[in-house]
Amino acid sequence: ELGPYSHFMQKEIHEQPKALSDTIEAVLDAGFSAELFGPNAAALLPTLEGVKILACGTSYYAGLTAKYWIESIAGVPCDVEIASEYRYRDAWANPKHLIVTISQSGETLDTMEALKYAKSLGHTAALSICNVRESAIPRASELVFYTRAGAEIGVASTKAFTTQLVALFALAVTLGKVRGRVSDEQQAQFLDELRHLPGSVQHALNLEPQIKAWADKFAAKNDALFLGRGLHYPIALEGALKLKEISYIHAEAYPAGELKHGPLALVDSNMPVVVIAPNDSLLEKVKSNMQEVRARGGELFVFADLDSHFSESEGVHVIRTPRHVGVLSPVVHAIPVQLLAYHAALARGTDVDKPRNLAKSVTVE
Ligand code: F6R
Repeated sequence: ELGPYSHFMQKEIHEQPKALSDTIEAVLDAGFSAELFGPNAAALLPTLEGVKILACGTSYYAGLTAKYWIESIAGVPCDVEIASEYRYRDAWANPKHLIVTISQSGETLDTMEALKYAKSLGHTAALSICNVRESAIPRASELVFYTRAGAEIGVASTKAFTTQLVALFALAVTLGKVRGRVSDEQQAQFLDELRHLPGSVQHALNLEPQIKAWADKFAAKNDALFLGRGLHYPIALEGALKLKEISYIHAEAYPAGELKHGPLALVDSNMPVVVIAPNDSLLEKVKSNMQEVRARGGELFVFADLDSHFSESEGVHVIRTPRHVGVLSPVVHAIPVQLLAYHAALARGTDVDKPRNLAKSVTVE
């Protein structure tokens, strides 16, 4: 079953161009039409006043990315909450806010209970973004989008995450369309960007040998810091989670602008700092955050796309990801952080597909 791969995680990382194409195919076939989310969606989506996303772990980070898209493309307020927190607090509910749950397995207990709780508070409509057909969460939801990642066996989520991002991007554009905010021309442009996405992801996969060389250095470290800004902050979070989950290296992620509000105190020559730094509107800000790290002796490992114009220097290592792909850039930048975690784990000899203490589907509290 593993073919040329050593682990399911590695296989699933490499399956991403196909998983993405399969998921994108649904969007290309339907255009950004409400039907993508089920027969009830055409009536529901235009009446919404907001979106509330509930999820756990990596799926929660997909939700954090979606917040940027939903607010900027659709112009709809969006908040994102960890399901296990939401279900236990006295939350305020607006029935006109769509609940969106994100779950690879569709069986995560906290996410399921958060959905039930939202319903009990008066939310009438819920959309499930899920990878497993007919699992519990989509069955309890009015609207469904199934990602087409195929079975994900490695405990660490990889291809499910990037396909969730595509589903959420499609939701953002569709919401924008039904609200008259996204023109036909913009829709055509977004479809085109989706069409090219698997190719850019393949480019990122081809960086594996360079990333492995970095990972071998990381294997000797006890801690790592991940930085990103804007759309790429959730990717920094995802990179830190992947690294701690499978290599057991302690890792934390911060939006780079927060460095000087605390975490900069941790930085010295023993602290590798991974920076997700594509050429977006925040790049100059990220560059100045990087100088703060360098000035304290921190070693920088920068993922920069071809348009970011970075050069290597003492203590600054750069891997060039593909040409900047606009607002879908987080999907492309998820790949190098997955590969970094995978190879760091290999170098440390941990059980990549079955990390200690973790289960693939968390059906208990
Ligand atoms: C991390 C990981 C977990 C899951 C989380 C939610 O690599 O896989 O954080 O993302 O347990 O699982 P689902 O998406 O099945 O609800």
